[in-house]
Amino acid sequence: MRLRLRNIFLVYFVVSLVGLFCALRELGEDPFHPPDLFKAPPIPPMPPPDPFHPLYSPPDSFHPPRPPPDPFQPPQPHFSPPRPVQKAELVRLSQTLLHVPALHWVVVEDAAAPSALVGGVLAASGVSFTHLSAETPPDLRGRPGDPSWLFPRGAEQRNRALRWLRDTRGRDEPGVVYFADDDNTYSLRLFEEMRSTRGVSVWPVGLVGGLRLERPLVSQGRVVGFHTGWRPERPFPLDMAGFAVGLRLLLAHPRARFDPRAERGFLESSFLGGLVTPAQLEPRADNCTQVLVWHTRTEKPKLRQEEQLQRQGRGSDPNIEV
Ligand SMILES: *[C@@H]1O[C@H](CO)[C@@H](O)[C@H](O)[C@H]1NC(C)=O
Repeated sequence: MRLRLRNIFLVYFVVSLVGLFCALRELGEDPFHPPDLFKAPPIPPMPPPDPFHPLYSPPDSFHPPRPPPDPFQPPQPHFSPPRPVQKAELVRLSQTLLHVPALHWVVVEDAAAPSALVGGVLAASGVSFTHLSAETPPDLRGRPGDPSWLFPRGAEQRNRALRWLRDTRGRDEPGVVYFADDDNTYSLRLFEEMRSTRGVSVWPVGLVGGLRLERPLVSQGRVVGFHTGWRPERPFPLDMAGFAVGLRLLLAHPRARFDPRAERGFLESSFLGGLVTPAQLEPRADNCTQVLVWHTRTEKPKLRQEEQLQRQGRGSDPNIEV
């Protein structure tokens, strides 16, 4: 039986790497001077302890004072997960994807091997998925303290997914490939818009690049330019969330890939340049006038109380997955 719906292959990569936080890709932000580092409000003084508060710990008679630190012992490592929001983001996205028919989710972790945490979320999600991993080589990872945007994120992982598509899909199989991001917000309509992609389809992305929206400019049904606030001379000034690729076109260009050494902002161009010219882009979302995907961000949770309790040996139960 022929599938009436063209399959969507949704490629997604998961960062599980210490020190690689969400890249400061917003151009309004100067990565060397993150605003909240310098404009953080003063920390209010601690209120007096409330013995009925669940986090209240009775004074020293119950907890003997800790011994002074042994100068020959390295400091105790304590809970500092690489990305504490990882499971929450996966659950949130998977529950959007559950509503999309004929979708296969390819999740590539930046790790030596697929992790049990991600595997567990995927298995429980009810979404058809493939779980892979590809580790970013050390020379492309940047050193601790380097700005996180120094190297493009996710190139290795997206290329791993491209290899999976080339290894497993038939040359004439209909399908559409979309590269999803960790924390974007997706309208279900977006997936229906991209389903008719033949070559490369494009649409606006909201809240990205320091703008309310970035979008291809369309005249008489053709892309004639781009609304973007930064480096408009880029061949394809598009966010990763702003395009999808027809599987047949992708398989017809076996060398198209993301360049892990691409200059900042040129990762999308390094891939799309191997597939189409800007004039061949197919506008969707009412000639690129509808925003159906938003580059929202997950705030990095502050775990100061957790660290404080852990120093007292009373951290949250480590056996409970968060
Ligand atoms: C896009 O623009 C073309 C040319 O102006 C027009 O024929 C077409 O109906 C438009 N499509 C949509 C979905 O608005």
